[in-house]
Amino acid sequence: MHATRSSDILARTAPLYERVKNVIPPVEWPVFADDIDAIQALKRARNAVILAHNYQTPEIFHCVADIVGDSLALARQATKVDADVIVLAGVHFMAETAKLLNPDKTVLIPDLEAGCSLASSITPADVRLLRERYPGVPVVTYVNTSAAVKAESDICCTSSNARKIVESLGVDKVILLPDEYLAQNVAADTGVKIIAWSGHCEVHERFNAAEIRSLREQHAGVVVLAHPECPPEVVAEADFAGSTAAMVDYVAAKKPARVVLVTECSMSDNVAIQHPDLEFVRPCNLCPHMKRITLPKIRQALATMVYEVTIEPAVAHRARQAVERMLAI
Ligand code: 13P
Ligand code: SF4
Repeated sequence: MHATRSSDILARTAPLYERVKNVIPPVEWPVFADDIDAIQALKRARNAVILAHNYQTPEIFHCVADIVGDSLALARQATKVDADVIVLAGVHFMAETAKLLNPDKTVLIPDLEAGCSLASSITPADVRLLRERYPGVPVVTYVNTSAAVKAESDICCTSSNARKIVESLGVDKVILLPDEYLAQNVAADTGVKIIAWSGHCEVHERFNAAEIRSLREQHAGVVVLAHPECPPEVVAEADFAGSTAAMVDYVAAKKPARVVLVTECSMSDNVAIQHPDLEFVRPCNLCPHMKRITLPKIRQALATMVYEVTIEPAVAHRARQAVERMLAI
């Protein structure tokens, strides 16, 4: 890179480096800075916004994202976007949800392979079979599903609102798919009988109760926050279970001196940046799908307008209804 251009970029991005300097070494910053500077210019040129999930790496989350949050917040914010282009820094089902809520905007995902083990665990035909087997039982679909699966359901939910959505139906039995552990955790919280599917999040299913007990032994006084996609035995050992946004809120409100977020690795980096005075214990599991999204791929997405997310209109119509019913509650 030309020396003057490079120093101009470093000067322009210096305030952003201040945000992430505790997790990104100075020697790595010039490479990030070049992409970040280009992405900022491309966003202006394309009238684009970047929505980033809490599991995105700090240089994306803190340096190029316009809107950040959990799955529910990203869906809600997607309804308010005033831009021509949305780049979803997250996984494919999140980009589909943004497209459902913004049929007239261009929605891009920087890597088409950014999937999700939950979304790939179930097909629309599976949902139709369940409906045949349990006639009249409402189908609640976790947002971590394809638009085609959402289209077969009555209403969507996220980990933030699963309990509320299930209770809002006012029935004693629901089908909640595809996350078996989320379904079991919601059943324990609500007393509603839940028919589950055997899908699992490949990140959260790897935690177990013995690991949590050993964390408590090794780190005296640690406060354990677990995601409800974890097995029920993990949630039972935790001090609190909630969505990624609920964990962020818990840390901000209670400021536990020593805390562990039992979830994807980048969460702790992103939250620790906002709370440098707290100690984050870091056993975590990486989501390989979330990690497919990188600054160079976001830059390429905006430069060349790839990869555009499209949804077949008949599917989109029915899937949108399921998402909108959720947002209305
Ligand atoms: P939330 O951010 O909604 O808690 O979801 C976690 C997750 O695993 C998303 O893929
Ligand atoms: Fe899917 Fe789990 Fe990755 Fe989230 S963390 S995208 S639920 S595999």
